[in-house]
Amino acid sequence: IERFTELTGRMNLPPKWSIGYQQCRWSYYPESKVRDIAANFRKRGIPCDVIYLDIDYMDGYRCFTWNKENFPDPKKMVADLAKDGFKIVTIIDPGIKHDTSYWVYKEGLKGKHFVLNSDSSLFLGPVWPGICAFPDFANTKTRSWWGTLYKDLVNTGIKGFWNDMNEPSVFDVPTKTFPLDTRHNIDGVISTHAEIHNVYGMQMARGTYDGVRRLRPNERPFVLTRAGYAGTQRYSAAWTGDNVSSWEHLAMAIPISLNFGLSGQPFVGPDIGGFIGTPTGEMYTRWLQYGVFLPLCRSHSVKGSINKEPWAYGEEFEKINKKFIELRYQLMPFLYTEFYKASISGVPIMRPLLLEFPDDKTTYRIDTQFMVGENILVSPVMEPGSTSRWMYLPNGDWFDFWTREKFTGGKWIDAKAPIDQLPLFIRAGAVIPMQQIVQFTDQAPVDPITFEIFPSTEAKGICYEDDGISFAYQTGKYRSVGLKVAVYGSEISIDRSAPEGEFVPAKRSVVFAVNGVVQKPKSVLVRGKAISEITSLAQSQEGWAFDPTMHRLSIKTTDTQEAIAVVVR
Ligand code: GLC
Repeated sequence: IERFTELTGRMNLPPKWSIGYQQCRWSYYPESKVRDIAANFRKRGIPCDVIYLDIDYMDGYRCFTWNKENFPDPKKMVADLAKDGFKIVTIIDPGIKHDTSYWVYKEGLKGKHFVLNSDSSLFLGPVWPGICAFPDFANTKTRSWWGTLYKDLVNTGIKGFWNDMNEPSVFDVPTKTFPLDTRHNIDGVISTHAEIHNVYGMQMARGTYDGVRRLRPNERPFVLTRAGYAGTQRYSAAWTGDNVSSWEHLAMAIPISLNFGLSGQPFVGPDIGGFIGTPTGEMYTRWLQYGVFLPLCRSHSVKGSINKEPWAYGEEFEKINKKFIELRYQLMPFLYTEFYKASISGVPIMRPLLLEFPDDKTTYRIDTQFMVGENILVSPVMEPGSTSRWMYLPNGDWFDFWTREKFTGGKWIDAKAPIDQLPLFIRAGAVIPMQQIVQFTDQAPVDPITFEIFPSTEAKGICYEDDGISFAYQTGKYRSVGLKVAVYGSEISIDRSAPEGEFVPAKRSVVFAVNGVVQKPKSVLVRGKAISEITSLAQSQEGWAFDPTMHRLSIKTTDTQEAIAVVVR
């Protein structure tokens, strides 16, 4: 995968907010509905960073316009929602309405930006707006023009762009796409759709990414695309397309997303809950429970469907859905670090077991479980009425995330899976950086940063941080620390390296939480000095606390720019 992505390119580090929970539907409108959805998230305390506007925000589905009746003052709406932590993503399709009074159509015609028929006439085909012309994304000039069209949306404060229907999709024809002899102009070389078809969607996302980056040079663009090709990860995240609210599709989204990752696209996920159809509360919850571990975590649903927000299925399910979305936010330092690693190596965030356990042949056929990074094993529940899940623990030692109980792998187990739990195991030897619950990624600086340590006889890991939005990390403004833990009998040593990079977080605390500790320690030394036992971590600046039920020792101190050494005896 490293070599393949060396060739096809790797994901740019996305804005951190795009790793938060995303809420979509076809469509939230008018403005009052969008505000109501946002208010519900905050009122119910369910974290969320992103709300999408699907095609109905536009005037007659004309791209780069607003329906002024439903959205009289988009700039104000976006600004108000931004104060509450919401980032708005709008859909943009390739089909440009054939309307001689529409500015985008006029500009496209004048600039010769549209795809032509084989006889050089304009190619037209129906999509949502009715009859449309289609930009020739194979052409560099057209992609640059396309990029400029986002200017007003960017000025309105729209943070991300969702490029859909870019296979390209055409209604009412048996092939559902352009005739293969339509003409593309690859920077002067006349070619056919037969040659361009597979890369059309990627080139659209490329035009969008590059254009938005030019318009807002100090922020990382977020683009989501439906169609793509090898290399699309350079410009865009992807979702798995229109699925169905069924247990089969819930299960199928796992291998589909895994295969995206193995193909070089790490930033992927399905429409959680299913796009078409009506999930039961149980199905939605089971879907979301593993959805919070996917790189892209987005709920979506088709026009006319029932409400599918995390609170739409009654109180019992709402509580569970909230707990799992909160868990995603608690895991944000870990997820962000995994995104960073994938942006460097191309190795996906969500992985099939075989990638981590090539010597354990049993893992080769498993596509109903997955790893997040090297160390988190997720076993989704894929059947109604389940209270347990028959699953495989690969070779090695494991901790049950919920109970911290230790297991030996290389065997199948019947893991507990009541409706409010999903089997979740952490590989022994892991360090998982976590944080406090926030309602959106940039609500508050991480404080404390908690390193959950799951030792075998040792454990190691890194935590990568930066400002989450700009490109300053590329010139040194990031912070990367390594953690090395060694256990000898009842003695534990923790070495947190001096941070690398010039990004300095606000003053905060750091917690080292060592799991699998059976006895209360006699002494804890931090930076060579003994610290005392405390009853409440939250209320003290420094000290240690032992949880005998969870077998977990937590050590709290001030985070600093120097190395930190901890010795437990
Ligand atoms: C397509 C997309 C879907 C979107 C709909 C309307 O079906 O795949 O996600 O909601 O178009 O824009």
